Amino acid sequence: MIDHATFVGEAVRRLRAEVPGTAIVAASGGIDSTVAALLAEKALGERARAIFVDHGLLRAGEVERVREYFRASELRFEVVSAADRFFSALDGVVDPEEKRRRIGAAFIRLFEAEAERFGTDRLVQGTIAPDWIESGGALRDTIKTHHNVGGIPADSRLTLVEPLRDLYKDEVRAVARYLGTPVADRQPFPGPGLAVRVIGPVTPDRVRRARVANAIVEEEVERAVAAGQLGRPWQYFAVLLPTRSVGVLGDNRVHGEAVSVRVVESVDAMTATAMAVPRAVLARIAERTTRELSGEVVRVLYDVTDKPPATIEWE
Ligand code: XMP
Repeated sequence: MIDHATFVGEAVRRLRAEVPGTAIVAASGGIDSTVAALLAEKALGERARAIFVDHGLLRAGEVERVREYFRASELRFEVVSAADRFFSALDGVVDPEEKRRRIGAAFIRLFEAEAERFGTDRLVQGTIAPDWIESGGALRDTIKTHHNVGGIPADSRLTLVEPLRDLYKDEVRAVARYLGTPVADRQPFPGPGLAVRVIGPVTPDRVRRARVANAIVEEEVERAVAAGQLGRPWQYFAVLLPTRSVGVLGDNRVHGEAVSVRVVESVDAMTATAMAVPRAVLARIAERTTRELSGEVVRVLYDVTDKPPATIEWE
């Protein structure tokens, strides 16, 4: 474990050295990028501006929640609405790596435009060690290209500044607590958002289904944790599968999609264990999902696979 005060002091010093003028910060409302934004704010004051992108792939209520978090943390920030751009970038794409590349590219183009507007070429990102390790850094195989390591195209004017590059998730969380941000206790949410929780084509309709299913899993797991029926998981979410199977709706037969529920415990996301969620909690998730997405989702599965061999997210 790192010493927080020393780390923050050192990060602020390096940010000042690497950013002579102004900088924008890619801020998703997650722990990593919020810590990066807070460090930038500490180091640069009004020379830093956090940019929160609503790519249309966010969880239910996320834009309002992130606004509140950032206001509470006294961050200078702007919200950019860009759902159309991301949906057209993802049109017809089913390959997981291609999805990540397209999302990464859409983010970079958007940040280039924002940087120009803010008169800078510096982009501060909350990349942490597992992101680049799993993206094939340090002579390893690529497990998956984390969107924020998708790479800056050779013709880009942007220079990356990554103050958390050497930290693991549990260390970033500890720094977040040290900095006193309410974001510290949020579960991780991937930058590419619900796109990696919608297996197969990413359409507004399928993202809506994934959004409803994710909200149900979050509510029911949080209720179970509050009631002492389950320890606090590292991450808990739903994945929409493109599998069609038969269901019953009233007196009729319907063909609907399936949802897989994932609840894992972990220390640093490099390994994870599928948790033993009480049967009654799973039953309630299944009942609500098939009712609130009636006819659209007819089957709910529970993913019992650890990492490794699986990863936490499905894509
Ligand atoms: P995996 O699925 O690789 O995920 O076991 C490990 C942790 O990283 C999160 N994750 C991401 N976070 N950008 C992010 O900011 C990404 O592209 C990304 N992909 C996965 C995942 O939710 C888990 O906590």
